[in-house]
Amino acid sequence: MSIKTPDPLVITIDGPAGAGKSTVARMVAETIGLPYLDTGAIYRAIAWWLNGMGIDPSDENGIRKALPCFSVSLCGSGISVAGKDVSKEIRGTEIDKIVSLYAAHKAIRESLLDLQRKQAADGLVADGRDMGTVVFPDAGLKIFLTASAEERAMRRYKERVSRGEKVNYEEILKQVKERDLYDINREEAPLRPASGCIILDSTSMTIKEVVDVIVSLAGEFGANDRN
Ligand code: DC
Repeated sequence: MSIKTPDPLVITIDGPAGAGKSTVARMVAETIGLPYLDTGAIYRAIAWWLNGMGIDPSDENGIRKALPCFSVSLCGSGISVAGKDVSKEIRGTEIDKIVSLYAAHKAIRESLLDLQRKQAADGLVADGRDMGTVVFPDAGLKIFLTASAEERAMRRYKERVSRGEKVNYEEILKQVKERDLYDINREEAPLRPASGCIILDSTSMTIKEVVDVIVSLAGEFGANDRN
């Protein structure tokens, strides 16, 4: 599909856990022909790395000392830390439980700013929690994608079941709600709709419907002209 968009166009997709951001962002990027940046994967990778070294989320000093040695590389949909492909490991329930605790650290967030911004040289579609508020505040199109907690937990549940995991819906719902509270109430880059963003509630929309809305908005909106 050929869509006329300003060049380079940055599209940000923020929202709570399980809103479908990654799937939607990946499909939008593919449709428009832009690179895709999954910033949740970067936070997951840093949590995996720090946790693996035994550095607790409460150990502010240990985290600050370790950060300069964090070496991550993004390759298509894969992610490596110090040369090791961790794409699978970072999706486990262990990382789900701890990643928000690490992501709340100012030092961690600041250390990732440059890395994220550098990816946007040729435009991109980036999903996360603070893409439109902090990392790319001048993005041409900012989306806040949400859905009810129950629907988001059900999506996660089905995703895990399809991977053959034994999971409990109520436990996932509890985790989704806890993560929302944590991400919304943290001091650093709290989860909230960015100024000038478009809020999309996907509770009763299919992924294709959400993608179509964003792709058509991308064709409509020029870069930097919504704020
Ligand atoms: O989107 P996700 O579930 O893969 O994100 C994992 C965690 O990382 C989530 O708890 C929030 C955090 N995160 C963040 O704080 N900022 C981002 N830009 C992306 C993710």
